[in-house]
Amino acid sequence: MKIEETIEFIRTTVEFNPEIGIILGSGLGDFSKYIENKIIIVYKDIPEFPISTVAGHSGQLIFGELYGKKIVAMKGRVHYYEGLGIDKTVYPTKVMCELGIKKLIVTNASGGINRDFKPTDIMLIRDHINFTGKNPLIGKNEDDKGPRFLDMTYTYSKELREKAKSIAKKINLDIKEGVYIWFTGPCYETPAEIKMAEILGADAVGMSTVPEVIIARHRGVEVLGISCITNMAAGILNQPLNHEEVIEVSEKVKSIFSKYISEIIKV
Ligand code: 6GU
Repeated sequence: MKIEETIEFIRTTVEFNPEIGIILGSGLGDFSKYIENKIIIVYKDIPEFPISTVAGHSGQLIFGELYGKKIVAMKGRVHYYEGLGIDKTVYPTKVMCELGIKKLIVTNASGGINRDFKPTDIMLIRDHINFTGKNPLIGKNEDDKGPRFLDMTYTYSKELREKAKSIAKKINLDIKEGVYIWFTGPCYETPAEIKMAEILGADAVGMSTVPEVIIARHRGVEVLGISCITNMAAGILNQPLNHEEVIEVSEKVKSIFSKYISEIIKV
């Protein structure tokens, strides 16, 4: 894939290097309204950029400023389950890293496994479990980007998490923290799988984020992961899951969620 070609295209429109990258998950694109001096590039105009097939995921790369910081936000992302392959899934993350971001804020919608959680809760990701067997670093290592054997001990920056926690306190937001487990989807998990995930120490389950985070870490970018619990995972409650609920809950929290991200960027 031709990252250089993509970068070259973006450079024709955007002159600055963003310091912070943000991936906005399902229904959480509302944050983009906070961005000032926006330059919007739609995914379909960007060479090599993958386009999501999921409803509710519009595809825009939004450059701009917030509190004097240069940022780039991805409104919409492709998921591994869309079948484009792992390389395409992480392509936009590679592009953001190439553009020079130092920090990546990744957001997603997830199913709650931890029984203390409820839909609308916001969880800082402390760590993850990659339960898919897929890894975007498989293949020849890009030695100029990062190490062959990447250390994953400090994947989710403690410093950024502590900052996020103190901001939550300041704005009176009850924030959770926990382990995110990545399943490929697209079907939701079975109750038996969720029971397993719970025993393994997972607090929330989802179909994204982990591949992007691996790529960002490989390139030395600091990561903050924020998950919106949109529903409880299978078997936690005695009721079936549906995608409408996910959309409905993210609709409900998008305003506070966006405010929270903007406050995090501020400090
Ligand atoms: Cl329950 N599972 C997965 N894999 N992703 C989700 C979810 C559940 N709820 C929201 N996203």
